[in-house]
Amino acid sequence: MESPIGVSPLPVTRPPLLALAPMQEVTDLAFMRVLHTHGDPDLYFTEYFRVHAHSRLDRDILRSITENPTGKPVVAQMIGEDIDRLVTTATELQRHPVAGIDLNLGCPAPCVCSKHSGGGLLRNPAKVDAILEALRSCIQVAFTVKTRIGYERPEEFDQLLDVFARHRIDLLSVHGRTVAERYQSSIHYDQIRLAVERLPCPVLANGNVVSLRTALLTLKKTGAAGLMIGRGAIRHPWIFAHLRHYFATGTVLPPPDSGELRRYIEQLYRETRNEDATALQHITRMKRYLNFIAPGLGQNERFLHEMKRVREEAEFFAICDRHLEKGGAIPAEPPAESVFAGLAGLDSE
Ligand SMILES: Cc1cc2nc3c(=O)[nH]c(=O)nc-3n(C[C@H](O)[C@H](O)[C@H](O)COP(=O)(O)O)c2cc1C
Repeated sequence: MESPIGVSPLPVTRPPLLALAPMQEVTDLAFMRVLHTHGDPDLYFTEYFRVHAHSRLDRDILRSITENPTGKPVVAQMIGEDIDRLVTTATELQRHPVAGIDLNLGCPAPCVCSKHSGGGLLRNPAKVDAILEALRSCIQVAFTVKTRIGYERPEEFDQLLDVFARHRIDLLSVHGRTVAERYQSSIHYDQIRLAVERLPCPVLANGNVVSLRTALLTLKKTGAAGLMIGRGAIRHPWIFAHLRHYFATGTVLPPPDSGELRRYIEQLYRETRNEDATALQHITRMKRYLNFIAPGLGQNERFLHEMKRVREEAEFFAICDRHLEKGGAIPAEPPAESVFAGLAGLDSE
């Protein structure tokens, strides 16, 4: 039987777990508030807490834990390579209402990798082994890891999986790219599947899930217990509600129109507004979200093109009004020739 979206239905025995991917300067308290009104994921991850010799818990990130308005569990993510400090930070974080502590093994930023943390740690499986051992013994909540599939080559994943398997982690999220591939390549679904087959814990598949179609294909290709969604949730915050509805009923909710998208952008504008920021600073912040929301909107990418030049609030909303009239259709998926490069690799079952 074919489903209305062209992907044959999954044999869903239990609904896949849906998580919001950690995203620096995005998955903060304000964004959680917005997402909550559109349908929460089952699990939130914070932006990463930087851990180094002199680090303290970042107060703003901590608010997404202590003031979590969603009623859903939040996992606190850490990035760093100093084992003692990671243990101290994990211990401090557990004094707050966290559902889990996550270790970042994926950030590709050169300033992070050059300090041998984030994705840089994947060059040193022995160090990862030592970090996991130390953290496992101090973490009483869920201990989770978010990883890429290697630093240079996907073949490195095999050895990393041996390391993960040794430490009884409770959940592994796999962004199916190497660090070197950053965000541009297609996803190595076979490597995510390998993690599913080799590890006793649940695995979340991550990368390029932007719609019901891409969610179902990702689950089918990987056999993962769930999905971690990042940029697709900035783009369409209702994605978790729509997926959950499909898993529960097998039916597809009507797609939101451009009027709803317009309302979401305005909600994001108001919720993320920091009183200390000037209008121009705030518009600059909004452009970070729009990079993921705008691809495919307006003829020849006019919406993003015009937004890139905007400096004032009135003009910001005038552009929204010009391109997002009530009732207009919005593309279900972004074009692959955009910040969502790599989507082209998910064309078929
Ligand atoms: C703006 C932005 C910030 C990110 N910050 C983090 C982070 O703090 N920690 C992390 O593990 N990954 C971070 N990532 C990576 C995402 O969690 C995710 O792995 C990646 O975007 C692929 O998933 P997606 O295609 O669903 O977006 C970030 C990605 C983006 C786009």
